[in-house]
Amino acid sequence: MIKPTIQLYQGEALRFLTTLPDNSVDAVITDPPYSSGGAFRSDRMQSTRDKYQNTDTEREHAEFGGDNRDQRAYRMWCTLWMAECYRIAKPGALFLCFTDWRQLPTTTDAFQAGGWMWRGLVPWDKTEGARPQKGGFRNQCEFVVWGSKGRMRTRASDPCLAGCFRHVVLQTDKHHAAGKPTALLNDLIKIVRPGGVVLDPFMGSGTTGVAAKGAGLGFIGCETEAEIFEVAERRIHGGVLLSRPGVATLFQEAV
Ligand SMILES: C[S@@+](CC[C@H](N)C(=O)[O-])C[C@H]1O[C@@H](n2cnc3c(N)ncnc32)[C@H](O)[C@@H]1O
Repeated sequence: MIKPTIQLYQGEALRFLTTLPDNSVDAVITDPPYSSGGAFRSDRMQSTRDKYQNTDTEREHAEFGGDNRDQRAYRMWCTLWMAECYRIAKPGALFLCFTDWRQLPTTTDAFQAGGWMWRGLVPWDKTEGARPQKGGFRNQCEFVVWGSKGRMRTRASDPCLAGCFRHVVLQTDKHHAAGKPTALLNDLIKIVRPGGVVLDPFMGSGTTGVAAKGAGLGFIGCETEAEIFEVAERRIHGGVLLSRPGVATLFQEAV
């Protein structure tokens, strides 16, 4: 069997995805910019730091782009990259995509328009630390829309996984303004069989890559912002920075 590799790319996802071959990855696990973060257009137009970072957070995380689309444009854009991921995925491959409550209907539309078979929703319970609302319900959950490229190729040895996960965002584990807990990705990635390759076109600080590497899986990650790419690279390569900032680069490392 070919040893799984880690490949990290700094650049724009849609351009990068067109370079990947058909039927070549076992799972797409990704967390795109939500273009959300508020009830009004003016909220959505704020910087990602203002939208996603608590004012009492000690560390400031880098700004990121692509987060200001309205819902029509968001649906169109998601359909483009989701369809491209569909082409790259093997038959039966899995697709897990994060979203919040506002973008949930738009995301599930694009998911299916991109060709994927929608199979369910996995809530991520962020615990009681998440946004409270006076007189209303706390927005305590984000969601993972999941499905497959056609029929799933299940085997008797496949595990039955939990349908929701509860993980707090620890400041010590937060490397991005919208970073996900590593423990959450460690749970989600259990859906990928040993020896599989995981693609994350919007890897941010590389949490999916950290989980994939930890599980002995191959990983292909893309991030457009140079500063954020460096954070991902350091995390995935165990503190070692191999790139030169601002250069679109492809790194390969055997797992
Ligand atoms: C929500 S964050 C991902 C966070 C990640 N799950 C983590 O735990 O760190 C989305 C990332 O996508 C990147 N991004 C936005 N548009 C992009 C594009 N067109 N191509 C590649 N990356 C993009 C942003 O810079 C941002 O870092």
